[in-house]
Amino acid sequence: MDSHENQPGQNQTLSLTSKLRKAFAFYFLPILILLLAISFTFTNTNLYKTQLLRRTFSSNPNLFQSLLRFLSPFLKPRTKPSPKPKPISRSPFCVLWMAPFLSGGGYSSEAWSYILALHEHNKTPSFKLAIEHHGDSESVEFWEGLPGHTKNLAIELYNTECTMNMTVVICHSEPGAWYPPLFETTPCPPGVRRNFKAVIGRTMFETDRVNAEHVKRCNEMDYVWVPTDFHVSTFVESGVDPFKVVKIVQPIDVKFFDPLQYKPLNLRSVESLVLGGPTRKSKSNFVFLSVFKWEYRKGWDVLLKAYLEEFSGVDGVALYLLTNPYHSDSDFGNKIVEFVENSDLEKPVTGWAQVYVIDSHIAQTDLPRLYKAADAFVLPTRGEGWGRPIVEAMAMSLPVIATNWSGPTEYMTEENSYPLPVERMSKVTEGPFRGHLWAEPSAKKLRVVMRHVMNNFEEAKARGKKARENMIRRFAPDVVANILAENIQIILEESDE
Ligand SMILES: *[C@@H]1O[C@H](CO)[C@@H](O)[C@H](O)[C@H]1NC(C)=O
Ligand SMILES: *[C@@H]1O[C@H](CO)[C@@H](O)[C@H](O)[C@H]1NC(C)=O
Repeated sequence: MDSHENQPGQNQTLSLTSKLRKAFAFYFLPILILLLAISFTFTNTNLYKTQLLRRTFSSNPNLFQSLLRFLSPFLKPRTKPSPKPKPISRSPFCVLWMAPFLSGGGYSSEAWSYILALHEHNKTPSFKLAIEHHGDSESVEFWEGLPGHTKNLAIELYNTECTMNMTVVICHSEPGAWYPPLFETTPCPPGVRRNFKAVIGRTMFETDRVNAEHVKRCNEMDYVWVPTDFHVSTFVESGVDPFKVVKIVQPIDVKFFDPLQYKPLNLRSVESLVLGGPTRKSKSNFVFLSVFKWEYRKGWDVLLKAYLEEFSGVDGVALYLLTNPYHSDSDFGNKIVEFVENSDLEKPVTGWAQVYVIDSHIAQTDLPRLYKAADAFVLPTRGEGWGRPIVEAMAMSLPVIATNWSGPTEYMTEENSYPLPVERMSKVTEGPFRGHLWAEPSAKKLRVVMRHVMNNFEEAKARGKKARENMIRRFAPDVVANILAENIQIILEESDE
């Protein structure tokens, strides 16, 4: 969801040779030469990393082979001038989804959720599905962490053969990665001479607008897919052709995130106390959980301020933060203590309410158990593309408190959650969206709502129950697969004329 988390240079596990082969596979020599020219400045370090990567794989021959095949389209060029005859039952049409499948991160997990939804719920498709890595560098760790069946699917879909003029390409990344890319990545759409049926850009932003360069890139696409009505209006207001912008919501795996399937995670096994005294064994706290990347945008400052002002050591409450680094180190405990010392917060006579950081790695498979261990989820964010943790918490039937602005307005209502009012808009002061506006959630209201949820837990639980119902009805993979298939069908028919 975090579009600018997919910037280049984060997972510097580039494989130079695979990239060159990739370029060559689409037989466009000019790009190859360009890439060579660009790459020469990096050659030394990248070659070194490539060697390391290869050595890592060599120790695991199966993995090596599968990844090598995956990373080397050279072995099996996708767009053949004269395709082999295919079984009659197979459609000649292709959807080639290009995304950071091997990178991890926001767009990566989003792309996987679409692909898995399409693969599992589109049983008699009018098109074949193909995937290609694009938009960010490959991460060996991420690939290794994927479940076996996902890896197999990746390899299978990677080897789908498509004919260029029968193919709809989806470039799922930030517009800076689209052809011609502003940084080194597999070009999307592939090839200099575009002879595809259609090319779709799939993207989103977390602020109130789209910058001019990105607007231009969006308008060069045949369609631009965005996940929410918020994006439809911000994109159109910024100058993207309204006839090109289409809303396609994001799926959530409601079977995986199903509270009935899990026992709560034992928080004591993962927690690290930052503020407040330890709880006596017999007592159990009301647990607020927040999940976010450690960046200003996520409003962790607002959360700490509201929570520490509202609650104290006698309230029987605890705030758990599952966070990971964003251009920072991971000493979050100290960052929190520092924040509190530098703020005007006064320590209550009964002591600080408890704040815990979860500092051991929570595997994806344990994530539902973490939500299950919480009583409520809270995220006073300043802006979200989609808000994946919010949706996950809602699928887990948790009462959710989150800012009523940007992506989450697509699915948060007063019936299924606690939409937090925006106090004012504020200017983004750093990063790629400098000068844009995003929301400043009300810390005062957040205090009131957190207290309210704790004191009216039956009401809160009813909203959580409603939240799960809504997630199933609107965003279950089969529902989203149908939306995708319908839209692709329309595009295939339109471009047939
Ligand atoms: C697609 O390209 C092939 C050659 O690669 C050509 O024979 C065919 O007529 C083209 N089809 C369409 C619909 O343009
Ligand atoms: C949330 O924002 C929408 C507009 O985006 C507004 O219509 C709605 O009333 C707001 N809800 C609350 C609870 O503030």
